[in-house]
Amino acid sequence: MSGHKSFLRKPVFAGNWKMFKTAAEVVAYIEKIKPLVEDSVHCEIVLAPPYTSLSAAVEAVKGTNIRVGAQNIHWENEGPFTGEVSGSMVVALGCTHVILGHSERRQYFGETDETVKKRVLSALRSGLTPIVCIGETLEDREQGRSETVLRRQFNGFMDALTVQTCSRIIVAYEPVWAIGTGRIATPGIVKEASSFLRALSANYFGQEMAERLRILYGGSVTPSNVQGFMANVGIDGALVGGASLSPKSMAAIVNCIQP
Ligand code: PGA
Repeated sequence: MSGHKSFLRKPVFAGNWKMFKTAAEVVAYIEKIKPLVEDSVHCEIVLAPPYTSLSAAVEAVKGTNIRVGAQNIHWENEGPFTGEVSGSMVVALGCTHVILGHSERRQYFGETDETVKKRVLSALRSGLTPIVCIGETLEDREQGRSETVLRRQFNGFMDALTVQTCSRIIVAYEPVWAIGTGRIATPGIVKEASSFLRALSANYFGQEMAERLRILYGGSVTPSNVQGFMANVGIDGALVGGASLSPKSMAAIVNCIQP
């Protein structure tokens, strides 16, 4: 594996807004962040508001380099699934990305590796770029099970991909113990996890594909620690929760690296 960041991997900075921000708040936010990131062509910027604000977000980012993502989708296109939203529905609104398998969904909403796989396939069929989240819990880490858990979660959807579809996904390594806690993973942990995931992907589709796979770090990323993560050769951006809620701090994260 090369020790250098590949020019093939364009960095991605994604904001996961979870259950925050009404449509009006999203529009006000985008107006504020727009001038701060208009020259940030070195990376892809994705904002993921709740479903109810997607339409307003898509409208507000028109003509900018900001893309809009959903925070989940169902695996069917349509059907009797009360309360669910499909990939084709968010694509019809103008979304380009979707966050899948977030640990909060795994923890509170019964998400499993199997349902993550189905959602990933559905996202790809709909033309969305999936940002697939995986990560071990504190207990997993303390029991020495981190690699076993990462392998299970990663292989759970990789098994269903082809070399073509794999080239369209983004993986977010988010240790559960680092999410919303202010406790960040050490450079050693992040390096170990990203090398491990890249090696697993090489098993599937070879070294060249593995070098192209974009792996983000997520978990308590802020403007003051993001550079440390980006210094890691295996990390290609960040999935940001809390710190993405302010346009100023999200812009500072996006602009932590320059071409
Ligand atoms: P956090 O959340 O940045 O608030 O830790 C990250 C995430 O849940 O994706």
